[in-house]
This record gives sequence, C-alpha cells and structure tokens, in this order.
Amino acid sequence: MCGIVGYIGNKDAREIILNGLEKLEYRGYDSAGITLRNNTADTFNVYKDKGRIAHLKSIVDYSYDSGLGIGHTRWATHGIPNYANSHPHYSKDSRFFIVHNGVIENYKELIATYLQGSVFASDTDTEVIAHLIERFSAKMSVSEAIRKTMSLLEGSYALAIIDRDNPHKMYAAKNKSPLLIGLSDHGIIVASDVMACVGYAKEYIPLDDKSFVEVDGASYKIKDIIGKPMEHDVKEIDIDASNIEKGEYAHFMLKEINEQPGVIRNILQRYFKDGKVTLNGPIKEALQETDRIYIIAAGTSMNAGFVGKQIFEKMANIPTEVHIASEFAYNMPLLTKNPLFIFISQSGETADLRAVLVNIKAKGYRSLTITNVKTSTLAREADHFVEIMAGPEIAVASTKAYTAQIAILGILAYGLSDGHINLYKELSRVAISMENIIDKREYIESLVKDYLTKRNCFYIGRGIDYYTCLEASLKLKEISYIQTEGFAAGELKHGTIALIEDNTPVIAIISQRDISKNTRSNLYEVKSRGAHTLVISTKSVHDQDDQIIVDDVHELFSPMLTVIPSQLIAYYAALARGNDIDKPRNLAKSVTVE
Ligand code: F6R
Repeated sequence: MCGIVGYIGNKDAREIILNGLEKLEYRGYDSAGITLRNNTADTFNVYKDKGRIAHLKSIVDYSYDSGLGIGHTRWATHGIPNYANSHPHYSKDSRFFIVHNGVIENYKELIATYLQGSVFASDTDTEVIAHLIERFSAKMSVSEAIRKTMSLLEGSYALAIIDRDNPHKMYAAKNKSPLLIGLSDHGIIVASDVMACVGYAKEYIPLDDKSFVEVDGASYKIKDIIGKPMEHDVKEIDIDASNIEKGEYAHFMLKEINEQPGVIRNILQRYFKDGKVTLNGPIKEALQETDRIYIIAAGTSMNAGFVGKQIFEKMANIPTEVHIASEFAYNMPLLTKNPLFIFISQSGETADLRAVLVNIKAKGYRSLTITNVKTSTLAREADHFVEIMAGPEIAVASTKAYTAQIAILGILAYGLSDGHINLYKELSRVAISMENIIDKREYIESLVKDYLTKRNCFYIGRGIDYYTCLEASLKLKEISYIQTEGFAAGELKHGTIALIEDNTPVIAIISQRDISKNTRSNLYEVKSRGAHTLVISTKSVHDQDDQIIVDDVHELFSPMLTVIPSQLIAYYAALARGNDIDKPRNLAKSVTVE
C-alpha cells in the first residue's frame, strides 16, 4: 500500500528518498512522486507520475543539491492512478507540499465547511489537507495550523509536510496509519515503514496515533494534537540489509519459498529449550484462562488461522473460532465470558485487524498478536505478542509467513497439550521434508506447463486439506491471475461440479488418512467429467498415479508441507505467464486502509 519517505539533513535527500521508496516497492503501488528542495536556488520541485519508481527516477532532475524532500508511492483509493492524483500534493499557493497514507473519510464535508470555491488539481482526499493547512496558517503558526487540521480529519493518516517558507523544517502527523521517524547523525527521516531507513539510520521512533512531529534541522519535537510533548521510545533498527536483497534468486517469492526450512529451524531455536516450549508466563496464562479463542485475520494469515483452529481444538482442547477481520469489526458475534483474541498478521499493520483490536480493547478483552514485525502497530497495541521469526517477507504473495504462523500456533497450543505429540521432533521433520519438496521444484515447473493451461482451476480437499486448498488457491489466483477456487471436496457435487468441463485443472490435496478415500471418490467424479487432475498427497495415503508425494508428518502440521508444492505451482504458473511475480497487479503487501 502507499509508502512515505521524507528526509531533512546534510546528505543527499534525493538518494535517501528514492532508495527508501524502492525498499517500500514490495508493499504495492501504482504511482510515485517526490518533492525536492534545490538548496542553492531555494526552490521546490515536484516530480510525480503514474508508474514505477524506475520511471520516477528517470524524470527527476539530478543537477542540484538537495537536503530536504518528501516522497511517496501511491496505491489508488480516491481517483485513478495518474499524474494529477499522484503525491506530493500542494496547497493553493504551492506553499505546503504534502504526502499522505490513509483515507480521509470527511474530506467532502471539510471542503463544504472550509474550502468552498477552492479549485483542486486532483480527485484525492489528500489535497484537501494541504489546502486546509494553508488556510489556517494565515491566522496561526504552521504547527498550530497542522494540529488544527489534524483535529478536523476523520479517518486515517500518516503525513509528511514541507513548508516552502521554512526550508529548515519538516513536519509529520499520524493517526491509524503507520509512521515513524528514523534518527541518524546526518539527518532525520520520516517513513511509513522502518525498511525505508535501513542503511541510513540506526534508530527510530514509532509514532503513536494523533501525534505531531516538528523536525527543525537536526532536532525534533513530538507533541499531541493540543501541542503537549508526548513520550516516545527510541528503538534500534535491527534489520540486516542483506535480508531485503534478492541475492541469487530471480524473485523474492522463490527466495522466500526456499527460506522456509530455515525459518522453521529459527523458530525451534527461539521457542524451545531442552525440548520444552519457552513461552512467557502471561501468554500461557491467557491461553489457560480463556474459554474460547477468536482468531482474527485476513487472507493468507486467516488461512493459517483455520489450521490454528484445528491445532488449538485438537492439541489444547480450546474451542476456537476464525473470523474475517473486516466482517468481525462491524458485525461482532455473541462472545463467550472469557474470550481471548488472537490476531494473526504478517505485517502487523492490517487496518481491518486494527479496527477489531481497538474495538475489543475498549471492551476490556485480552489480545495476542502473532506477527512477523515486532515493531508493528498490532504487536505494540495487543496485550501480548509472539514473533514468527520469518525475516522480512518482501514478495506480496505470502509464503514463509504462512508456514511460520502455523508453527507458532502449534507452539502456543503445545504449552497446554498433554504432550502426546512431540512438537520439536515434528517441526524438525517438517523442516527436512520442506527441503525435499523444494529440491523437486524443476519437476513441479514441468507439471505446471502441462496442467495450468486454462483460465480457471480448482483445488479440492477435505478436513485440514480443505484449508490448505484455500491457501493454495489464493496463492495461484493472486499471482498467476488464473481464476482459482478452493473447495471442500464433498461440496463440489452440490453445485460447483457444473463448472467442470474437458481439461479443467483440478488439484486435490490428500493427507488425512481417515478421509482420503472420500476425497479420491470426489476426484473420480470430476475426472469422469473431463477434469485434468493432479494430486498432492502424503506417503501414507498416496496412490501410484499421484504426481506430487510429500513426507508424512503429524496431520495437524501436514499443511506446512502440502502447501509448498502449491506455492511452487503458483510461482511457476505466474512465471510462465510473464507476470510481475513479486508485485502482482492491484495488490499491496501491507493493507493499511479498511
Ligand atoms: C496473500 C497475502 C494477503 C495477506 C493479507 C493479510 O498472499 O499476503 O492475503 O495475508 O492481506 O495481511 P497480513 O498478514 O499482513 O495481516
């Protein structure tokens, strides 16, 4: 989703901002822009357009020194992706330049109340903010004008602002959209993601909602909306720059698929000591005391949550429900007396989840976030958090986070189980078996060429395999654009089987011993209606004609293995179609709007 990078200092703002924006490319965007101060002429220049950062780089002027600027990658919400709607936007007299992440819900009301007759250059909600600040600054200081504007805005915003008339200052403001300031001895960075600071700053300050920052040269003040100083923590940036490079791989997605065995081993190292889980006491207590877990998540993380439901119910005996965050936020079901909310989110920034977290916190319920980003909003705001240790996931399509999330859910449940599963041993076997599948990637690529020749595809499975089918189909559709659905195999004959025609690809996932025969019957039903079938099965239930056979592990953890061929299938299907694998169309890595 949108990205912000601003810089003030004595290094080259152009380089820091453009490099920072490139590091945020993985989040998904459709336009990019930058405002730079020409130090010598004391003028401000805006470069922006629809398209990639590579295009932005080709239109920026490199002939002058610049120590101040703000940049943006835009994922369109209000107004199509084009020059006019790209950020930075500016006020009527081009005094204030502004970049914005988030959505201003009341921008039309603000125009009607304060800006009647104003002419706008774009269709965005953002431009209104620049106009308001300029209007208010006629009667008050710029800081007061920004804080007054903040008090009127409804919705979410992360803002970086430059004032043409005071080139030694930069401002920032935040509510509901992530924003931080990066600290270095050469200058100060404002960014929506700590990734943008890697290589340029060693420390950063995550900003709280409704905070306002005034950067004056090398110093900064963080205040609340009425101008009172706010407390803040300074944190170390501990991201290794080599972790956010592709290295020898053609795509981040392939790199991340390959990293999965290593991630599982990291998790084992971090959360086990002498075969026992080392979870902190309050988390164990929260799990022991709850009468029902409510897993709240979206997309791939929700698919991991479905596996988590099986794990909590079968290993720890805790009734568990899984909910789509965006539905739960505004349509909460009846809850039990002592619910525990588990938020699963790779990014830790998904706005749909945050809306639920804010809501349940206000009601006094306990919360736990499972995330890959320990500095994220959801990690900070929940009562507890557990890190999945997957390392930065850059490809938009989530792979290693999914398997890591399942491992963590297993670890949480294990602390309460009777120990009949040796989880350490099971997960160690998973890691080795993952390697065995990844080693066969060229074979999987050859299958894809043969099978995925149509515009649609189905994944079918039962029980826990059905949940893997949901994830497998999401992966395939999001990067190959093949219309793919995951179905409970037994449900096909109640309607969907009507879609099966000659050569329709149907991929079955079969790992559960007690119901494998039933899934096979459903497979014959589609085969006899012309489907081109492919089977991913485990050794103990395989048939000799099955194309992809993976090792046996405990059934509850089989999704961590059966999902891997499906990730590779998606990858190679997208590769064969020449798609932008790491940045699929219309998608964003971190979905920070509801
Ligand atoms: C799919 C994918 C998305 C995310 C979803 C939630 O590959 O990545 O479906 O899983 O947008 O994001 P997080 O996990 O960051 O909350």
